[in-house]
Amino acid sequence: MTAVSAHTAGTYDSVADAIGHTPLVRLNRVTDDIRATVYVKLEYLNPGGSVKDRAALGMLLAAEQSGELGPGGTVVEATSGNTGLGLAAIAATRGYRTIVVVPDRVSAEKKAVLRAHGAEVWVTPGLRPVGHPEHLRSVALRLVEEIPGAWFAGQYDNPANPAAHRATTGPEVWAQTGGRITHFVAGVGTGGTITGAGEFLKEASGGSVRVIGADPETSVYGGGDGRIWYVEAVGHFVHPETVEDEWPKSYHTEVVDGIERIPDVEAIRVLHRLAREEGLLLGGSSGTAIAAALRTARTLGPDDVVVVIAPDSGRAYLSKYYSDEWLGELGFPLTTVITDRTVAEALDGVDLGQQPAVVPSGASVGTARALVGTAVALPIVLERKGSGPVVVAEILGSVSAAALVDADDSDPVSAHLGAPLPTAGTTESVAGALARLGTQTGPVVIVHEGRAVALVDAARLADSVVVEQE
Ligand SMILES: Cc1ncc(COP(=O)(O)O)c(C=O)c1O
Repeated sequence: MTAVSAHTAGTYDSVADAIGHTPLVRLNRVTDDIRATVYVKLEYLNPGGSVKDRAALGMLLAAEQSGELGPGGTVVEATSGNTGLGLAAIAATRGYRTIVVVPDRVSAEKKAVLRAHGAEVWVTPGLRPVGHPEHLRSVALRLVEEIPGAWFAGQYDNPANPAAHRATTGPEVWAQTGGRITHFVAGVGTGGTITGAGEFLKEASGGSVRVIGADPETSVYGGGDGRIWYVEAVGHFVHPETVEDEWPKSYHTEVVDGIERIPDVEAIRVLHRLAREEGLLLGGSSGTAIAAALRTARTLGPDDVVVVIAPDSGRAYLSKYYSDEWLGELGFPLTTVITDRTVAEALDGVDLGQQPAVVPSGASVGTARALVGTAVALPIVLERKGSGPVVVAEILGSVSAAALVDADDSDPVSAHLGAPLPTAGTTESVAGALARLGTQTGPVVIVHEGRAVALVDAARLADSVVVEQE
């Protein structure tokens, strides 16, 4: 029963000591068709705002102990944000300089927080193959070589990352459920959380706890082909030019009993429900993990206890999963119901399950010319083996018939790359999409749930508004 009462949290000597001891909160409304108990572990209540505080502290202490990091040293990490945040906060208290290398798709809020802690933030372009000089890790390793006294945290391969979860996250969950936990669910980024906590929980339960990984649908961990997705900080992207794809040493695949592959749209729907029905404003990877937990729990009975990790808060993503502008442009469900005519309604009759003609990035001009045919222009998409959805973030630009007039058939089409075509999301209002398009004419990429589903002429969208007003 809920009652207003005083809870005594601990008193700590430093911010590092306040890491961990996060609560489990039961889900009550999004579970109304579920008999099992589902608890969410609120890792955003760590001082640095995420589960990664645990790994950051573990890695930093291990480096100090081994002598790799000492007074006046510099902490360097390649991260999608949160590990850098944990490292920056702890490093600040110990007098270290911190440099964090992040991919450009990391939210603006995370970069701002890193800078607030005094960290230097290096932003690298996304979509680079492993080993490319601009790849996140290459940039971080170069900095470590150049800066005397620099230490590379290397969360992907650092054994102190899973060890931190084995020592803290796992035992906390076991104690908090009084050993009643039957299923543990977590997203997999570096794999540190699922590996460390999962191994502990299996050992503590004599092997009975089932460990379920939550993975974005196209990530390779769960069997996807590695194309990009929109939920930050979990999954494993593979650039098609990556020669040898290595999985992190922090991820021990044998601990995982199953993986739920969660499309972005499912994670986003769950996030919106959690905010409205459970009072929980959570980050994108929490949506992925909790969607996987709900799928798992639906198959279970009343004695089962599912614990799922919510790695961080939604506050760092107000401009993404909680922004109707961002959601609408990508054709994801909005946070509010709009009464305006949407792009999907305006395009009544366009099959949203299809994908438009595109030119693969490795094509020659001759091939591109044939593909473009009578079209004004087509998107150029990062080339992958096999067919799969065209994720809008993998559209590199466009090629127009006009740009190829004097080109040699054997030229690579990439030498004639134009700016990406404008986009309109299915869930945004036509008026909003048209305002963004301004005076642009020609083909517009229609985006549904982050994927290109059609190419329509801008005039068709404009005409639909005129028809509506008549
Ligand atoms: C928000 C968020 N979710 C999930 C993860 C994945 O956790 P792990 O790296 O332990 O697999 C991370 C890791 O950076 C994260 O920042």
